[in-house]
Amino acid sequence: MVIALAATIGLASKSITATGLVLIVVATAVGAGIGLWRARVVEMTGMPELIAIMHSLVGLAATFVGWNGYLDVDAELSGSLLGIHHAEVFIGVFIGAVTFTGSVIAYLKLSARIASRPLTLPGKHVLNIGALVAFAGLTVAFVARPNMGLLIAVTVIALALGAHLVASIGGGDMPVVVSMLNSYSGWAAAASGFLLSNNLLIVTGALVGSSGAYLSYIMCKAMNRSFISVIAGGFGTPAAAADEGEQGEHREISAEETAELLRDASSVIITPGYGMAVAQAQYPVAELARKLRERGVEVRFGIHPVAGRLPGHMNVLLAEANVPYDIVLEMDEINDDFAATSVVLVIGANDTVNPAATENPASPIAGMPVLHVWEAADVVVFKRSMAAGYAGVQNPLFFRENSQMLFGDAKQRVEDILRALDSLDAPVREMAGSSR
Ligand code: TAP
Repeated sequence: MVIALAATIGLASKSITATGLVLIVVATAVGAGIGLWRARVVEMTGMPELIAIMHSLVGLAATFVGWNGYLDVDAELSGSLLGIHHAEVFIGVFIGAVTFTGSVIAYLKLSARIASRPLTLPGKHVLNIGALVAFAGLTVAFVARPNMGLLIAVTVIALALGAHLVASIGGGDMPVVVSMLNSYSGWAAAASGFLLSNNLLIVTGALVGSSGAYLSYIMCKAMNRSFISVIAGGFGTPAAAADEGEQGEHREISAEETAELLRDASSVIITPGYGMAVAQAQYPVAELARKLRERGVEVRFGIHPVAGRLPGHMNVLLAEANVPYDIVLEMDEINDDFAATSVVLVIGANDTVNPAATENPASPIAGMPVLHVWEAADVVVFKRSMAAGYAGVQNPLFFRENSQMLFGDAKQRVEDILRALDSLDAPVREMAGSSR
């Protein structure tokens, strides 16, 4: 980007005034400063929302470039070239505006400023298809007779469509939406590249657009979602079920009782989620795994592909705490082993261990592959309350007979277990000492 900026400013320097040049340099410095500052201070858990808001800026820039392309037409363009120019303006504004509002809504959902539940307006698919048909019709009219009224109309339609598409998608599908918006931002940049006759922008935009689209496709496959359904704002997915509320009685367990359960276990699987990242519990969790392994317990970690808030989130945290790679397994590698496991520790995970995904076809997360933790002999769920996970759906796991809740901050609770394990060992050590 630095090379691209330097080359663009260098080429343009002959045709712009000194004031214009100063403005460009100042704007670049301010933008780069804000970007550097945000990227330095962002928490790992806040990464997806930072990415989403950055995408919104790409969309906004593409919309402005499109508008500028309309207001400032190259006098040498005529005939069919002028028609192509106007089509580029219209398409660029449309993609840019969809990306802008879609990314803003994604940002608001990811940062929990608005609910992550899918919005279900009556006839929502008709609204989306209507917007696309209107866009196609307006494009033809604009190319034939460019005018500001049509450009304003497409901008408004695209802004509304972007917001509606992303608002209609449930929390569980947000990872796919973020990578899809990444792809849209690439296409928006490529559209600007055509308008500005800038080959570098076209190539880099197409690179981001196509790799983002392929990443979305891979994520859809991993989450058992239809690619078309996600890009069409949840088309064909079941309407969100009402909040089911609590589904029976839950049982509580203390840290001391959990320590006893672990002492007697032969195999343990730890399934971490977003809560482990919030609590920064990876260090005591790694210590617990080490201690249990020293006692001869088989300990492994089961990692869901979208646990946490960004791809690979859990793997990064566990690597940071020096958990050996060979005991960290992907969901597909470990899912068949839960049934033969003594204890599962669910540390701050919720949606990724929700049996409703496999058992309730009306659930908003139906069909999403999940970790089959409930098949183990005992499950201990670490969380602070009975609140729902990111997708906003209740988790029947918490009310199963073999599940027990260990309430509180995950880091503190794991540290309590470590202490309790030590005190369980103490009498053994004392006896060994006195017999010597
Ligand atoms: P979530 O479903 O987000 O649930 C996390 C749980 O952690 C919450 O129920 C919360 O319950 C608990 N928690 C929060 N802070 C805690 C703390 N300090 N100590 C103990 N528990 C705490 O987690 P998940 O299973 O990892 O699923 C991830 C979700 O995020 C999925 O729906 C996924 O689609 C979505 N998502 C993922 C990504 C990527 S790419 N990974 C990106 C965006 C969205 P309490 O409030 O009761 O404590």
